[in-house]
Amino acid sequence: MTQDEMKFAVAQEALKYVVKDTIIGVGTGSTANFFIDALATMKGDIKGCVASSVATAERLEGHGIKVFDLNEVEAISVYIDGADESDDGLNLIKGGGGALTREKIVAAVADKFVCIADESKLVKVMGNFPLPVEVIPMAANYVMHQITRRIGGTPFIRENFTTDNGNLILDVEGLKITDAKTMETEIDSIIGVVTNGLFANRGANVLLLGTPNGVKVVGT
Ligand code: A5P
Repeated sequence: MTQDEMKFAVAQEALKYVVKDTIIGVGTGSTANFFIDALATMKGDIKGCVASSVATAERLEGHGIKVFDLNEVEAISVYIDGADESDDGLNLIKGGGGALTREKIVAAVADKFVCIADESKLVKVMGNFPLPVEVIPMAANYVMHQITRRIGGTPFIRENFTTDNGNLILDVEGLKITDAKTMETEIDSIIGVVTNGLFANRGANVLLLGTPNGVKVVGT
């Protein structure tokens, strides 16, 4: 089974978590794109979606799915999105696509977070994937120094990239993330950081993992 076939399978499985007649939060990335295409098959059953990026909003609208501004909605029943890494506590690294801040906002509002990924994303200790950190551009150097001094790892500015919010992304290499909640809080406390790609204080509730033997469900 190819990686794309596993992503397709988890996207199909995620349809079971869609709550009818509600608004669904939708993530960003290649796995989320498979989910958007799957969601289009039941678009008449939902009120619409809140998107975590401009790209996701465009794909949803391309399927004729209504996209709401987050400030217009009362509640989001479930947020469905991919991840760059997950540990078995369902702490995640996200932001490989640079959409981490909007993703984290939509995940915070949602009652439930269902993460969809192929099995290569599940690791014992996160950090092999560089941790994305969104920063206000004028603070980039300051934040890089603070991360090196207080957190460790080596931050690099992502080249030729601006987020949907007009900011920069630092990718922090060389971390071994054994206490994701503490690290998430610590990085967010650095002035100039908008948010970081650790989703631990609000991790996933359910992880649907695509494997060659079918979809494995972790969590409830
Ligand atoms: C986007 O900013 C990310 O958080 C994605 O959710 C993450 O990078 C997973 O992307 P893929 O599904 O393309 O691997």
